[in-house]
Amino acid sequence: ASSPSQGAAKDWQKIGTVADLDKTGQLLVPESPVGAVLVVGTSKAAKNLIAVNPTCTHQGCTVAWKTDKNQFVCPCHDAKFARDGKVQAAPAEKPLRTYLAKIENDSVFVKP
Ligand code: FES
Repeated sequence: ASSPSQGAAKDWQKIGTVADLDKTGQLLVPESPVGAVLVVGTSKAAKNLIAVNPTCTHQGCTVAWKTDKNQFVCPCHDAKFARDGKVQAAPAEKPLRTYLAKIENDSVFVKP
């Protein structure tokens, strides 16, 4: 049994607007109730949204999404991660944390 305050961050959290996501196809939120979030996608393909915690599991730099390569790349030591967060290139060894993502009305939501 968890307290209501702990439960809050386990539910869907509104982290931004669809307008902001659609501008670039990416929405980076450094601080949200669930931690840092990077959502990739647009409302036109809302079923394909992906969302991760972009904090690199190597030493904590913020990874960037590369559309042409279909992967996340860390600017610090070039670790690479797949859409589902799995490591594709060292030096990172652990996957990125992922979130569920959805669009509702004009807002973007994620859930741990
Ligand atoms: Fe990301 Fe080192 S911090 S590869």
